[in-house]
Amino acid sequence: MDGRQDLAGRRGALRNEIVRSKTPLTTPGDIMDIDQLNEIALGMVAPGKGILAADESTGTIGKRFETIGLGSTADTRRDWREMLFRTEPAMSEHISGVILYDETIRQNSEDGTSLVQLIQNAGSIPGIKVDTGAKDLAGSPGEKITEGLDGLRDRLKEYHELGARFAKWRAVIDIGRGGDDAMPSQYCINVNMHALARYAALCQENGIVPIVEPEVLMDGDHTIERCYEVTEYALKRLYEELFAQGVMLEGTILKPNMIVAGKACPDQAGVEEVADMTMQCLGNCVPAAVPGIAFLSGGQSDEDATAHLNAMNAEYDAPWPLTFSYGRALQAAPLKAWGKTGDVKSGQAAFNHRARMNGLAALGQWSPDLEKGA
Ligand code: 13P
Repeated sequence: MDGRQDLAGRRGALRNEIVRSKTPLTTPGDIMDIDQLNEIALGMVAPGKGILAADESTGTIGKRFETIGLGSTADTRRDWREMLFRTEPAMSEHISGVILYDETIRQNSEDGTSLVQLIQNAGSIPGIKVDTGAKDLAGSPGEKITEGLDGLRDRLKEYHELGARFAKWRAVIDIGRGGDDAMPSQYCINVNMHALARYAALCQENGIVPIVEPEVLMDGDHTIERCYEVTEYALKRLYEELFAQGVMLEGTILKPNMIVAGKACPDQAGVEEVADMTMQCLGNCVPAAVPGIAFLSGGQSDEDATAHLNAMNAEYDAPWPLTFSYGRALQAAPLKAWGKTGDVKSGQAAFNHRARMNGLAALGQWSPDLEKGA
């Protein structure tokens, strides 16, 4: 442990020397307690556990509720999330951390216990989405830049007081339709990766582990090869920016997309090919110092998201733990079961099942038979 702290100090010194001798780069601030950040990050990817992304913005959760004919109010949003966070054994056994939204991190459950406390009671770590969403990128029609850096330092301090020990920021990279090679632009990738690194450095300064999420969307008709190429470029740029901005990789978690063909591509890859190409891409781009990788589900079916994760864990001895940080692939089934009437028993049964399936996939111990009769 001391070795890591020493390394942090040495890196800081090296950087300062470079700064003094050559370039007008700014000096990184005080070296944060990297051991503490590393411990949190390792907890987020503990064996057989993964992250529940319950950080839908008010607009997005409203759309999800529409699918079950439920109106979205502060109370219905609270009831839904309280039901999830009280689900056992899912929470204690398979959910290492929960990503919350600004409203949720401040909410109390019906009996007055804070939702943060419910998560902590289950031995899970509360986290917070801190970006303020993807907005149109100036001068590049159709592309997005994720916002939320203004005032972020103060927001992080408050979130830490409210119990958050990790955060999430999602950059969105869209691939052009019909073989349009101009999209994504390097401009779009560069500014988004720069923003991710600025966010990550601020998190670490405030004792919060940044989940860095450069999501290459699966919308569109692109091939799996094109997804590989774009993801590889984005990840290479991401790690350059993290280095340039003094982010300590030991205190980060990567949340990437898997390498898949666009949803509208007629040629869809099988499970093995997705696992192979994803591992090849990550192996080429992600330093071994990263404590863990937690995939997003991105619109894959529940079972695909589980099968792909399982295949990677079953067939590869990767340098990082590989787990899930799923939103839709963990919540779609429970939401349907919970339904408009708020059937807690059915909702929790469905959540227990998906959490267990993904927990097994994180160990490479899932098989399709386990889905039957669920
Ligand atoms: P999905 O698993 O639904 O893609 O959501 C994960 C997430 O948090 C995206 O930012």
